[in-house]
Amino acid sequence: MPSWPGAVEIREVGPRDGLQNETPVPVAERVRLVDALSETGLRRIEAASFVSPQAVPSMAGAEEVMAGIARRPLVVYSALVPNVKGAERALTARVDEIEVVVSASETHNRRNVRRSVAESLIGVGETVALAHEERVPVEAIVSTAFGCPYEGDLAPERVGQIAGHLLDAGADRLSFGDTTGMATPKRVHDLLDALERAGISTGRVGLHFHDTRGTALANVVAALDRGVVRFDASIGGLGGCPYAPGASGNAVTEDLVHMLDDMGVTTGIDLEALITCAALASGIVGRELPSAMLRAGPRTRTHE
Ligand code: COA
Ligand code: ZN
Repeated sequence: MPSWPGAVEIREVGPRDGLQNETPVPVAERVRLVDALSETGLRRIEAASFVSPQAVPSMAGAEEVMAGIARRPLVVYSALVPNVKGAERALTARVDEIEVVVSASETHNRRNVRRSVAESLIGVGETVALAHEERVPVEAIVSTAFGCPYEGDLAPERVGQIAGHLLDAGADRLSFGDTTGMATPKRVHDLLDALERAGISTGRVGLHFHDTRGTALANVVAALDRGVVRFDASIGGLGGCPYAPGASGNAVTEDLVHMLDDMGVTTGIDLEALITCAALASGIVGRELPSAMLRAGPRTRTHE
C-alpha cells in the first residue's frame, strides 16, 4: 500500500469557480449555498470573486454575497481578485483570504485579465502589500499549470519559475490550476518534480483539477502518492458552461471525499451533508450535475 497523507484540506470552490461558469443565479441562492457548505465541516470556501461584472456577469454582487453569509468562526472564506481594484473591494468586504491568479501561459493570461504575465506579477506585489496591511493572507494560483488551450503543453519549469516570482512577490500560499483539464497523473509527477527542483516542496503545494477529461480523481491520487495535502473541489461538479463545448467543472467535492474516506485520508467533512449540498447546487442551477454521489450514492449504500 502506498503511504497516503493521514489528512488533507479540501477547499470548496463551487460558489466561485463553479458558479462563474453557470448562468447567473441570484445572490440569495449563492448565500444559501455557501451557508449550507459551511455546515459540512469544510474549513475553506471560495465564496466569490471581485472581478469586473462585465467580464464575468455571474460573479456580480460579490459584496452582497460576503455581507449575506453567516460567517462560521472556523471557516476561511476566500475570494479571487484579478487586480488591485478587486483587492480593495475584497478587503472592504472583509474576506479572510485573497486569491490572485496568474497564468503560466502568456496568451491565456492576456485573454483572462487583459495583461501580460509580467504586468500581472507587478499587480500581485501591489495586492499583497494592500492585503498584508490588513493582515489578510494571499494565495497565488498559477493557472494553466498543466497546459493551455491556446499554447498547448507548457514546460513545467516555466510553471516553477512563475511560482518562484509569486513567492518573491510575497504570496503566502501557492496553488496550481489545471484550468481546462489537461493534467494526467504523469503530468502531476512532472510538475511536482519541477517544483522540487525550483525549491518548492510538495507540502507547500495546493492543486486544483478540472474533470474535463475524466482524470481529476486519478490526478488527486497521484498527488497523494507524492504527499500533497491541499486540493480544490466543487460541489456537485458545478462549473463548465453548458454552452461552451468541452468545458467542465472541478473535481466533484463529494466524490473526492467519498474516495478519501475509504482510503483512510481524513477531511473532517461530513459526506451525507455534502451530498445534500450537491442536491441544493443542482436545484440552484436547474440542471443535473456530474456527481457520482448524486447518481449512485456512497459505495456502502445498500438496496432492498
Ligand atoms: N471589479 C469591478 N470592476 C472592475 C474591476 C474589478 N476588480 N477591475 C476593473 N473594473 C472595471 C473598471 O472600473 C472599468 O469600469 P468602467 O468602464 O465603468 O470605468 C472597467 O472594469 C474596465 O477596467 P479595466 O481596468 O480597463 O479592465 P479591463 O477591461 O482591461 O478588464 C479585468 C480587466 C481584469 C478587470 C477583467 O478582465 C476581469 O475582471 N477578468 C476576470 C476574469 C476571471 O474572473 N476569470 C476567471 C478566474 S481565473
Ligand atoms: Zn478552475
